[in-house]
Amino acid sequence: MIIAITALKGGVGKTTTAIHLAAFFQSLAPTLLIDADKNRSALVWSKEDKLPFYVASQAGAPGLIKKFTHILIDTQARPEPEELEDLAAGSDLLILPTTPNPLDLDSTVKAIELLEPLNAQYKVLLTQVDSRTTTGRDARKFLEEAKLPLFKVDIPRLVAFERAPSRGVIVKDYPDPRSSLGWSKYRAIGKEVMAYIKE
Ligand SMILES: Nc1ncnc2c1ncn2[C@@H]1O[C@H](COP(=O)(O)OP(=O)(O)OP(=O)(O)O)[C@@H](O)[C@H]1O
Ligand SMILES: [Mg+2]
Repeated sequence: MIIAITALKGGVGKTTTAIHLAAFFQSLAPTLLIDADKNRSALVWSKEDKLPFYVASQAGAPGLIKKFTHILIDTQARPEPEELEDLAAGSDLLILPTTPNPLDLDSTVKAIELLEPLNAQYKVLLTQVDSRTTTGRDARKFLEEAKLPLFKVDIPRLVAFERAPSRGVIVKDYPDPRSSLGWSKYRAIGKEVMAYIKE
């Protein structure tokens, strides 16, 4: 299965999502995360060798792909329309993370307008949702009213997600009382992906 994580905006949680879903899929079958972002954020996260899956650069990926059952692709912000087209054609599913911020939601709608004519399979993931406010709920209502396909589970905004990269670990392995909450949410998203692909 090939899953690409993409968005027109930066900072919406693409790399965090790619890393945690790769960890989930690795628990099912060998999984490769391809870092297709020039900033190499996923490669930097992996450099201490504490992640439970393999991360490759785009240049390093071709020789490795056949050894893995699941491939995840972390992409750069602001992809060219041609890049989106290639990702849509080459993936079983595109995951579009967005924060509840109205500007990010607007970019998500624009990304979907580009994807619609391509017959792409995509699903929107709400990330960095602050549970103390209604912004997550409001964003979900907006996306549902726009009839955009949306994961049932949101990813909460947690300090553990912010800090895990500096230790080179996934959130589950970061010592914080709310780490297991964060990990349970990405596990739930992974299960939704599996159910979606089987449909
Ligand atoms: N659920 C979350 N809770 C708290 N912080 C988060 C969460 N998800 C991501 N972050 C933080 O938000 C910032 C952006 O996240 P991330 O790097 O995953 O986004 P991105 O879309 O890959 O960004 P870029 O476009 O720069 O590649 C990072 O500092 C990350 O640690
Ligand atoms: Mg990134």
